[in-house]
Amino acid sequence: MFQKLQRKWKVNSISLVLILVTFATGGSLCGYLGKLLLGLTGLEKNILWFIIYIILVTLLWPLCVLVISIPLGQFSFFKKYITKIFGRFTGKKQPSKMRVAIFASGAGSNAQKIIEHFKNSKTVEIALIVCNQPNAGVLHIANTYKIETLLIEKERFFKGDHYLNDLQLKNIHFIVLAGFLWKIPTALVQAWPSKIVNIHPALLPKFGGKGMYGNNVHQAVIEAGETESGITIHFVDEVYDNGKIIFQATCKVEPEDNTDSLAQKIHRLEHTHFPEELEKVLMK
Ligand code: GAR
Repeated sequence: MFQKLQRKWKVNSISLVLILVTFATGGSLCGYLGKLLLGLTGLEKNILWFIIYIILVTLLWPLCVLVISIPLGQFSFFKKYITKIFGRFTGKKQPSKMRVAIFASGAGSNAQKIIEHFKNSKTVEIALIVCNQPNAGVLHIANTYKIETLLIEKERFFKGDHYLNDLQLKNIHFIVLAGFLWKIPTALVQAWPSKIVNIHPALLPKFGGKGMYGNNVHQAVIEAGETESGITIHFVDEVYDNGKIIFQATCKVEPEDNTDSLAQKIHRLEHTHFPEELEKVLMK
C-alpha cells in the first residue's frame, strides 16, 4: 500500500512519512479547532451542532494541513493536492498531462535526463518506463523517480499482442525510445502514428539498421574512418532507423578515438539535445 502511494504521489519514502504525518496532525488539529470554536458559541451538542462542526472541519482542514506542511517541508505537495481536490468540487478539472512512455534497454542515462527535464512540467508526464532487460539500470532510475515500469517479454512483444492493450489502458500518448534495442512492431507504429521517436547514436542514414546499436555503431564509424559522427532523433516507422529525421547534431571523430571515447562524446550530445528536442516535438 505504501509503495502504491509512493508511486501515485511520486515521492520518496521519507516524504511519504512526512505527508502522512501532515495528514494525521492536520486532521487532528482541525478537529480540535472545530470543537474549540463551537465551544465558544455555547451551542448545545445536537444535530445542528454536528452539522456546523462538519462544515467547520471541512473548511479548516485545508488551512490546517497547509500550515503543518510548511515546517515538515511538504507545502508544495499539499498546495497541489488541495488545488486538485478543490478543482473536483468546483468542477474545474486540471488539464490532463500528456502521458509519455520511455522504452529503454540499458543504463538509462538518456531516460534520466528526460525524466529530470519534465519533472516539474505542467503538460508532460513521464508516466511509464518500458524495459526488456530485468537487470537494466533504467529500472533503478524508474524506481528512484517512482515511475511505473513495465517489463516486457520477447515472445509477447513480437508475436503476441505487442503489449498494445497495456499501453492503451495506461493512456500513453507518446513513446520515446531511449536506448531501446528491439524493433518496434508494426501494430505499435500504427497505433501511435508520428508519436514514437527514437534516438540513434550516429548520423543516419549512415550506420543504422539491425544490429546497429551502442558500441557496434561507434565501432563501425571508427572502422569506416569517419571524421564526424553524431546523433539523430527521428520518428519511428516500420523500418529500422528509417523514419523522418527531426534533429541531428555532430561531433568530431579524432584519430585517437576509440569506441568508449566516442560513446562519451555521443552521450554528451544526446544529454544536451534529446530532452529539449523532444519537448519541441511534444509541444507541436
Ligand atoms: C544511447 O547512446 C542511444 O543512442 C543508443 O543506446 C544508448 C543508450 O544509452 N541507442 C541505440 O543504439 C539505438 N539503436 P543510455 O541507456 O545511457 O541512455
